[in-house]
Amino acid sequence: MSKNIVILISGGGSNMAAIVRAARQQDWAGRHGIRVAAVLSNRQDAAGLAFAREQGIATEVLDHKTYPSREAFDAALAQAIVAHDPALVVLAGFMRILTPAFVERFAGRLLNIHPSLLPAFTGLDTHQRAIDAGCRFAGCTVHEVTAELDVGPILDQAVVPVLPGDTAQALAVRVLTQEHVIYPRAVLAHLLRNQ
Ligand code: GRF
Repeated sequence: MSKNIVILISGGGSNMAAIVRAARQQDWAGRHGIRVAAVLSNRQDAAGLAFAREQGIATEVLDHKTYPSREAFDAALAQAIVAHDPALVVLAGFMRILTPAFVERFAGRLLNIHPSLLPAFTGLDTHQRAIDAGCRFAGCTVHEVTAELDVGPILDQAVVPVLPGDTAQALAVRVLTQEHVIYPRAVLAHLLRNQ
């Protein structure tokens, strides 16, 4: 049975890189037969694509702007993903809302990371909203993707303090460091649990 991971990115791809590094350092391939088979992006300029290529991972860009509808884009994206026979599809800063049909197709093998302690602060601008709300703690959540945005079974979380005088940017850096810890861990745990 396949233990391929397909990772979807739209930007810097630091979470994708953290997963790729963990896979290499912990020898996921040798120990578990798990490998990152492909990195797909909806943006040609996603910085993470260069890292993936350097690592010898297959990459592909599907520009959502060239498709007539969200459904058409998601159908093409699903086809590109399926070509890599994935056991797990990992959203890592993939800034597209997915159609119910797409989510349904990959149900149970679609993960996301969100930069808040869900169920608090779904959606965008999570760090500023946590600061504005006076939260003493913030964090990040790995969850299974279901039809509703940023909802779905929670698989792992990490907590960081909100410090006096924090800016959204400073808090984002502190949270991102923890994202890089919990996402590889959650990906491996999910694959081992479902093998
Ligand atoms: C992360 O904060 C992630 O939680 C959010 O988008 C950001 C992506 O960062 N969904 P990167 O592309 O993984 O560096």
